[in-house]
Amino acid sequence: MKRLLTLLGALLFSGIAFGQPSVRIAHGPYLQQVTDDGFTVVWTTTMDAASWVEVAPDDGSHFYAAERPKYYDSHIGKRRIGRLHRVRVEGLEPGTTYRYRIMQQGVLCEEGNKRVILGEGYGSDILKHKPYTATTLDESKDKTEFWVVNDIHARDSVFRLLLKGVEKAKPDFVCFNGDMLSSMESERQLFDGYLNSAAELLTPAGVPIVAARGNHENRGSFSSKFRDYFPTSTGEVYYAFRQGPVCFLVLDCGEDKPDSDIRYYGMSTTDAYREQEARWLQQVVQSEEYRSAPVHIVILHMIPGGKGSWHGEQELRRLFVPILNEASVDVMLCGHYHRYAYIDDGSRGTKFPILVNSNNDKLVVKADRKGIDIDVVNTRGESIKRHRIDK
Ligand SMILES: [Fe+2]
Repeated sequence: MKRLLTLLGALLFSGIAFGQPSVRIAHGPYLQQVTDDGFTVVWTTTMDAASWVEVAPDDGSHFYAAERPKYYDSHIGKRRIGRLHRVRVEGLEPGTTYRYRIMQQGVLCEEGNKRVILGEGYGSDILKHKPYTATTLDESKDKTEFWVVNDIHARDSVFRLLLKGVEKAKPDFVCFNGDMLSSMESERQLFDGYLNSAAELLTPAGVPIVAARGNHENRGSFSSKFRDYFPTSTGEVYYAFRQGPVCFLVLDCGEDKPDSDIRYYGMSTTDAYREQEARWLQQVVQSEEYRSAPVHIVILHMIPGGKGSWHGEQELRRLFVPILNEASVDVMLCGHYHRYAYIDDGSRGTKFPILVNSNNDKLVVKADRKGIDIDVVNTRGESIKRHRIDK
């Protein structure tokens, strides 16, 4: 009787008894960790739910033409229940576009492992709207185009201006190169600050996110959750991937001041993390995936240090630059300074140029095996600087 009352209460509370879906999409979805054989879809729901993604080929058939394979939000062999959903779709072909829809069932009643009662399935609409799409990476592609924005610091209106036209340009990905927020205090702040807009503008265009953490994303009570929202292939906040002729190294800069700084409240262990990252970097640049790529691009929020630099930047120079100097890097893309700079005088100890993007512009980067073209584009969509890096 008690169970029946609990269930009835849950039904009433969830609105299902009034014909309302028990669970709705709260934020997202957006695409993460696209590889040559898969992609990850991330979204949140208004209540605890069990979720999955259904995938169909992009062959013109109706989504309902056949039973579509389901990929569950699962973790170590169990379906994962919660409000944050991360579904990994794998076993796909390289360079291929797939359609997908996200689905979830709200948890109406959960009594430990004994009984879980799920509500009706509900998810992204595929009748009035086209299903979402995702395209896997392909290292045999001749060229790649991607965009970079950084240092948005939750200025959503600037962010939206910079992403204007993304649905037509359809770059292979948009990189968020750090400090998208000033600190990470809550999920709401993350979505309100820029991630709602990112999902709204990028997901219908099938454009994935490549996230690099800035120093400011180390801060705040929610900062330990960064990787939950931006899952990676390494399980860390640094990783590498191939697209077309380019091998990308997405590095984590850590904090800018020493770990003992009063602003970190004794919670920062960034020095040890950078050391760990440097050991990983040493391995990656020796890998076949890296060495076989004709072009190498490094994405890193902070800039390796020069004269007068702070501790974090000095550490980036000490730990990463000697490795990168031996790894045929073509260009490093940074942010952090909130102003444009092109550093090709070796003053940061690098044998490669460093392009620092401002907080109000985006980089439009096109690369093939002959070289890299970079346009610095302002919020009016005007190209204000241009660089060509020949191979
Ligand atoms: Fe920064």
